[in-house]
Amino acid sequence: MNVIVFASRKGGSGKSTLTAHLAAHVHTTSKPCLLIDADPQGSLTLWHKLRGTNEPQLKPATRSVGEIVAQAKRDGYEWVFIDTPPNMSPVVEDAIRNATMVIIPARPGVFDVNAVQETIQTCRAARKPYAVVMNGAPALRDENESRLVTIARAALAQFKAPVWSGQITNRADLLLALGSGEGAREYASEGRAASEISRLWAAIERSVKAIRGSSSANGAMHKQAA
Ligand SMILES: Nc1ncnc2c1ncn2[C@@H]1O[C@H](COP(=O)(O)OP(=O)(O)OP(=O)(O)O)[C@@H](O)[C@H]1O
Ligand SMILES: [Mg+2]
Repeated sequence: MNVIVFASRKGGSGKSTLTAHLAAHVHTTSKPCLLIDADPQGSLTLWHKLRGTNEPQLKPATRSVGEIVAQAKRDGYEWVFIDTPPNMSPVVEDAIRNATMVIIPARPGVFDVNAVQETIQTCRAARKPYAVVMNGAPALRDENESRLVTIARAALAQFKAPVWSGQITNRADLLLALGSGEGAREYASEGRAASEISRLWAAIERSVKAIRGSSSANGAMHKQAA
């Protein structure tokens, strides 16, 4: 079982959005994913209610996640995704301690990039693999990323933070899908949002395989310097 934690002290960076879209992308009955909403704001819980299927399953956590993670392992879950609040409260530290890998979403802006440092420090102190994911980025133009994203990557390179080479673009489809309790692929299977979520998932899966020692870490995103 692998535990993916979505964490960033910065509010609105995309933790709940990525958790929901990736969960809808990976959950299958044969390889189930458990969602843990560790944020009292309850964004993920709201999406889950709108979804109305109880698939994937969701459990709330207020103070700690360790017990829920241990039970999930006994129950045979393949994946556990934990959405966390935008702070460094004990539940976030506990989630990071239980993580196989931490995903740190960041919007490409000076405040956003600066705010990831604290989360990075927590991951490093807990010796947990992590990667920053550029979210809410301007769309590519002729295959080229926006200058904003390039600048953000350069700033992240100064912290020696591994950063996913792709991006999740700012797209209405991602929002609209959440509003109907869906993931990007369920909302528009051939859409660009779905293809970016699918690329992000491929990168996470590759990193997890490398962390588990079942493949080389060459090019894995948690090793990827910005
Ligand atoms: N790539 C994107 N494209 C369009 N809208 C997005 C994208 N990422 C996030 N959003 C929207 O931005 C808002 C903030 O995102 P989200 O709630 O996922 O951030 P968060 O990090 O979970 O915030 P908080 O720290 O408050 O929990 C939401 O309305 C969300 O739907
Ligand atoms: Mg959130």
